Amino acid sequence: MSRAVTTNDPVERYGLTQLDALPLSMLDEPLDFVSADHFRQRSLCRVLQSFARSRHVPRECADKITAFLTHDLSLHHQDEDADLFPTLRKRAEPEDGLSTILARLSDDHREASPLVLEIVAALSVKPKRGGIAISAAAAETMFAYVEGEQRHLSVEAGIVLVIARKRLTTADLRELSRSMKTRRGVKAA
Ligand SMILES: [Fe+2]
Ligand SMILES: [Fe+2]
Repeated sequence: MSRAVTTNDPVERYGLTQLDALPLSMLDEPLDFVSADHFRQRSLCRVLQSFARSRHVPRECADKITAFLTHDLSLHHQDEDADLFPTLRKRAEPEDGLSTILARLSDDHREASPLVLEIVAALSVKPKRGGIAISAAAAETMFAYVEGEQRHLSVEAGIVLVIARKRLTTADLRELSRSMKTRRGVKAA
């Protein structure tokens, strides 16, 4: 039986609690951590699409989204560009055909950056009262970001992580975990 959402907290009402930080203990399983980050990014895409359509964002939601885009997303891109992708390049077999795919994915990270900055700027205005009105141009940017991100995420989930689970060694995963922990200020055990 489904229950109606009765909360007055806009962050909960719009499902943005799905952007909450992941438990750091998950870093012991780095590929699961990356995959869980992808789930958060898909949640963000859904919410951005909804706000781009309604052209209105409650203040609390805007703060939650900007924190995610400026902090968590940047860490995730570093996890992939500095750790996961280079490790995979070493382990992948030629028949995996990964080198072009990984180069394209790192390009996507760079190309998404100006769109992310525009979205953050649009969500960082401080109206005297009420939520934030989204301009037509900002809504277009949100739609463009979501479109690129959804394509990017499907390649990472459907190809990159599948091959990573097959090819990375236990030592690779340990090193990946160590590096991702260091990036987040967590002492490795
Ligand atoms: Fe990713
Ligand atoms: Fe990525």
